[in-house]
Amino acid sequence: MKIAISSDHGGNNLRKEIMSLLDDLDISYEDFGPQSSDSVDYPDYAKPVADGVASGKFDRGILICGTGIGMSIAANKVKGIRCALVHDVFSAKATRCHNDSNVLAMGERVIGPGLACEIVKAWLNTDFEGGRHTRRIDKISELEG
Ligand code: RB5
Repeated sequence: MKIAISSDHGGNNLRKEIMSLLDDLDISYEDFGPQSSDSVDYPDYAKPVADGVASGKFDRGILICGTGIGMSIAANKVKGIRCALVHDVFSAKATRCHNDSNVLAMGERVIGPGLACEIVKAWLNTDFEGGRHTRRIDKISELEG
């Protein structure tokens, strides 16, 4: 599995924690920054991750900002992206089982690194259930036109 990851300035610290977790888990990733703590615009950092997942270059994406909200809104504008904003382990599993989410967004100002790492592990280790959920995913795709 290959992951694309980025944040804005509000998510820099948590992004580094998640990259450290991915290193520990021996999961390959590409870091799309930012590489400084300067204030940046989150859509600029959501785009390469969302495009990379939508194109199939990456299997999954992880996006962090202050709340996770801006990143999730931006990522979900890219065709083929199902970005879930998650701040609990139950939702992390459910959004994989039911929504086949391919991008995970979290907010550094909302949760701590311990919970965020548990969310990432649950999200990466849970498979899509298919069945009736496939029909619903197909209907989401139809909304994209
Ligand atoms: C940046 O101040 C903040 O707006 C951003 O990180 C994010 O929370 C937006 O949704």
